Amino acid sequence: MSERFNPPPQKYCILLSKLEETLRPDQTGHGFIHGLRTRRFAEIIAEGENIDHISLRLAAEAHDAQRPFEKATGLSHYGHQAIDRTRELFFQSGFKKAEILPVLELIAVHDITSWEKLISLSREAQILIEADNLDALGYVGIRRTIAYAKAFGQKVYSEDSRSLYDHMKQYHLNLAKFFVSPRAIEMAKPLDKEVQHFLDELDKEYEETGKADYDMKVFDLLK
Ligand SMILES: [Fe+2]
Ligand SMILES: [Fe+2]
Repeated sequence: MSERFNPPPQKYCILLSKLEETLRPDQTGHGFIHGLRTRRFAEIIAEGENIDHISLRLAAEAHDAQRPFEKATGLSHYGHQAIDRTRELFFQSGFKKAEILPVLELIAVHDITSWEKLISLSREAQILIEADNLDALGYVGIRRTIAYAKAFGQKVYSEDSRSLYDHMKQYHLNLAKFFVSPRAIEMAKPLDKEVQHFLDELDKEYEETGKADYDMKVFDLLK
């Protein structure tokens, strides 16, 4: 399949406007722009590879389409039970079943956290996961993580419950392990350093000012 839509089919333009509308309520840093950034990262990683570029692009743009409903429905936004609504968006936009199937297969597996699982997936799925993870790193990733913590009422630091600080230490600092493509590994390096730097600065401030001020200070970044 060609790497580019040339020109973009009308159904693709309809899909983008539906995604934009669907993701508008998102307050967690997983909105429409995250989809576009994931697509861009995926295109860079996938350049020159003999894979299904069109399905990868569509999956990248639509992979978090169910995020805004996760809390209300109790359904995870990935996995087979959660992608029915995303399928509907594709159908309503004019895509055929055969075009949608490989896209949904990618979306269904996009949130894995084990290396063994990652290396067992298709090349398209690996690239989608890498692209998604790249947008969780760097200053944009930090800001998205703060938005997520704020939306779910997490504290920046807490000894009693899961906090933004814990999440970044346990999740973000481990993300660099989940890259298999040489291009993604290179792209992740400076972004990973930014996350590390942010956490080092937080640690320093903890020492200097104590933990009480933290929610206010960090959440001020969102204003
Ligand atoms: Fe996701
Ligand atoms: Fe995502």
